[in-house]
Amino acid sequence: MAEELLRKTFQVRGRDFDKAGETAAEIKQILKGLGIDSGLIHRAVVIAFEAEMNVVMYASEGTITFVLTDEDIRLEITDNGPGIENIEMALTEGFSTASDEMREMGFGFGMGLPNIRKNSDGFNIESQVGVGTTVAAMIGLDSSA
Ligand SMILES: Nc1ncnc2c1ncn2[C@@H]1O[C@H](COP(=O)(O)OP(=O)(O)OP(=O)(O)O)[C@@H](O)[C@H]1O
Ligand SMILES: [Mg+2]
Repeated sequence: MAEELLRKTFQVRGRDFDKAGETAAEIKQILKGLGIDSGLIHRAVVIAFEAEMNVVMYASEGTITFVLTDEDIRLEITDNGPGIENIEMALTEGFSTASDEMREMGFGFGMGLPNIRKNSDGFNIESQVGVGTTVAAMIGLDSSA
């Protein structure tokens, strides 16, 4: 069994574009301070940032839980709705329901979830319409690209 070394949960507020990205930045600083390999940090930060932005853009509130074990980095992002109707479609590159306003801010390329999956060694998404979405991602500490 993997030994848990560190666990931290962050609150993310939907629609709060001013604070968007802060959790991903904080996780980056924690991993840097621990001397984790920069390639692994980069992957973890992409995952955290894209998932954080999805909470900000689509949900009303959520949490990001960051766990470091002696074997891996785990990120679990959960929010309380609106949920995703078609998960397969949401995971398709280029699919987006972002508003014009979000696109003007540089989001809405439909690349967030595909990039989260690409950067993960283990990936899972569960969602229920009207309830919420949970994305779980894992990066092995001995993995490379
Ligand atoms: N937490 C969520 N709650 C509800 N819907 C979501 C959530 N995350 C993603 N989606 C839906 O899945 C679609 C694809 O998400 P994805 O992150 O891949 O792209 P995007 O957010 O539209 O654009 P980008 O991430 O490139 O800025 C979103 O447009 C949205 O419809
Ligand atoms: Mg996104």
